[in-house]
Amino acid sequence: MKISFAKPSAVKGGALAVFAGQGGVLTAAAAAIDATTDGQVQRALKASRFDGGVGEIVEVLAPAGLDASRVLVVGTGTLAKAGPGEFERIGGALQARVGASGETTLTVLAADLGDSTVSEAEAAARMGLGARLRAYRFDRYRTKEQPAKKPSLTKLVIQTGEARAADSAFNRYEAIAEGVFLTRDLVSEPGNVVYPKSFADKARELAEHGITVQVLGEKEMKKLGFGALLGVSQGSAHEPQLVILDYDGTGGKAKTAPVVLIGKGVTFDTGGISLKPAAGMEGMKWDMGGAGAVIGTMKALARRKAKCRVVGLCGMVENMPSATAQRPGDVVKSYSGQTIEVINTDAEGRLVLCDVMWYAQERYKPKVMVDLATLTGAMVISLGHEYAGMFANDETLAGQLLAAGEASGDKLWRFPLGDAYDKLINSQIADMKNVGPREGGSITAAQFLKRFVREGVAWAHLDIAGTAWSDKDTPLGEKGATGYGVRLLDQFIASNFEK
Ligand code: BES
Ligand code: MN
Ligand code: ZN
Repeated sequence: MKISFAKPSAVKGGALAVFAGQGGVLTAAAAAIDATTDGQVQRALKASRFDGGVGEIVEVLAPAGLDASRVLVVGTGTLAKAGPGEFERIGGALQARVGASGETTLTVLAADLGDSTVSEAEAAARMGLGARLRAYRFDRYRTKEQPAKKPSLTKLVIQTGEARAADSAFNRYEAIAEGVFLTRDLVSEPGNVVYPKSFADKARELAEHGITVQVLGEKEMKKLGFGALLGVSQGSAHEPQLVILDYDGTGGKAKTAPVVLIGKGVTFDTGGISLKPAAGMEGMKWDMGGAGAVIGTMKALARRKAKCRVVGLCGMVENMPSATAQRPGDVVKSYSGQTIEVINTDAEGRLVLCDVMWYAQERYKPKVMVDLATLTGAMVISLGHEYAGMFANDETLAGQLLAAGEASGDKLWRFPLGDAYDKLINSQIADMKNVGPREGGSITAAQFLKRFVREGVAWAHLDIAGTAWSDKDTPLGEKGATGYGVRLLDQFIASNFEK
């Protein structure tokens, strides 16, 4: 779909969208359209229960006196209170309504949305972003879709007096959307398509955007002593990979250490010998959602030429049961030198992350390290699908991430850490075990990771188990992979690490 911004002019054909505030009060542009239709629009609103809430839509088909196939009246809520998130939801709602309606063109009259908390240009650009995100589909394996369900909309024109400014704001948002789509693509792909080596191949494609990509294979990781990560991988026929994405948008002038982002990349999690039940196991193809968010963020940063230095590391493995799989009770030696008793082979994400985290700190000496992982089912029980859980050892970092969550819409809720939780993963025969009791399962998982954070490193762990995938449509996406984390991290970098 082509999305563009244009100065207001007479509409010729296609669908037309206008706006109304809370209570259904038409904006000036909408009132003018209503007058052209001899009051048909107002009559339609009266006949419905339209109240002007954000993204609420009433449709008038074949309006009289207008060169348009339909008029959509879209609610903005109280316009004076509408901000970026509201305009994104409005764009998403329009896309959801018109995208497969048979219309090919939609013109949006956004000329009087500047009475909100943002400029008219920003309102227009955010609507474009919302439509772009909502229009994403993962349909490469469908060969028989009914024509009536196929997308029809190919052209979205947003009319605004600030078309040039809107266009330049939208350019940045398009870069971010591309990052989100890379994440959604990788998370949506099944485990027979995305496995460690194919993920690494996909990462190598980012070289064309100026990212330096390096991949360590099994041999290198053996030599280094990644005993925890390799223990997870040893039951799989797929070779594990450590994918390293290095982006420097400072022109080599970065004086400080890079921000390091780390992703759990379990391309399929059967649970290993501690095998998961069959029901719903197919969902474990998205157990690489953390790695997906990291690679998507790197793409977004590079595409919008962010002025920062960021290194992303993705620990890619497959967790399988087999004759070569690790057993419950096995003791492995992590790259840090600490030993781990593997009580449950299904608690594999932390075993992958701990070696990657240690390697990242050895090699890059970061001051800030953030990991993302679909780590625990317990997090889904705690927070459902609205917020991801955050654990942090540093107040400043925690504050920055919470703020980025609010601003981006990828929301975070902070959880506690503490010695009483840490004790729960002490082992009889090794330095630690990989699981604690059932209670507080997300917290003991975070405590495990914390044992691999060095003194002086500000670290945050984001458990995205509940947010990487959505079982229902949302304002900014069809059901499926959400791309959670890309917008969050992009915002986090933009607000705190760009000069
Ligand atoms: N990948 C899962 C966590 C998960 C579960 C993510 C459901 C999304 C939805 C993780 O590897 C796992 O299996 N965790 C176990 C840990 C337990 C064995 C301590 C869990 O949460 O059950
Ligand atoms: Mn698992
Ligand atoms: Zn897992």
